[in-house]
Amino acid sequence: MRARIGSARCRAAWVAACGATIGLAAAAAAQAAPDPVAGGATFRARCAICHAIVGQQTKVGPSLAGIVGRPAGKAPGARYSAALGRADFRWTPARLDAFLADPAAVVPGTAMAVRLADPAQRADVVAYLATLK
Ligand code: HEC
Repeated sequence: MRARIGSARCRAAWVAACGATIGLAAAAAAQAAPDPVAGGATFRARCAICHAIVGQQTKVGPSLAGIVGRPAGKAPGARYSAALGRADFRWTPARLDAFLADPAAVVPGTAMAVRLADPAQRADVVAYLATLK
């Protein structure tokens, strides 16, 4: 049996597809404001195993205390790759966002391999990192 254009079933399919689009738009709008609390949960799940957030405690990676505004690759006592060790910039929210999307694109040769593909999730994590003093 072929579905006729304009049949009730066809119209219902369009309404469903359209409703899904509106739902996505609403979700995107809801994600517009970065959420440091959600970012903290992601950090604990994805980053905390390698990064401390207080003082100069070094795990596999450097402490991220005060990371926003800090010079890249210069935490005292941390062991860095040659690539990050010779970096010559400070971490801004925009740099952190780009680094977390693709670390090697910002610092070719870095040993940091974890990527966060979802832009909203990255924005949340960067908002959380900005709370670390
Ligand atoms: C498997 C361990 C590991 C995980 C998990 C990890 N990192 Fe890293 N991270 C590192 C290492 C090692 C470095 C140092 C890289 C280098 O020297 O090239 C680093 C470096 C960094 C730096 C640069 C620090 C500086 O002093 O310049 C930032 C920012 C960072 N990581 C953020 C994160 C965030 C946010 C997450 C979670 C999404 C994360 N990392 C997950 C190991 C990890």
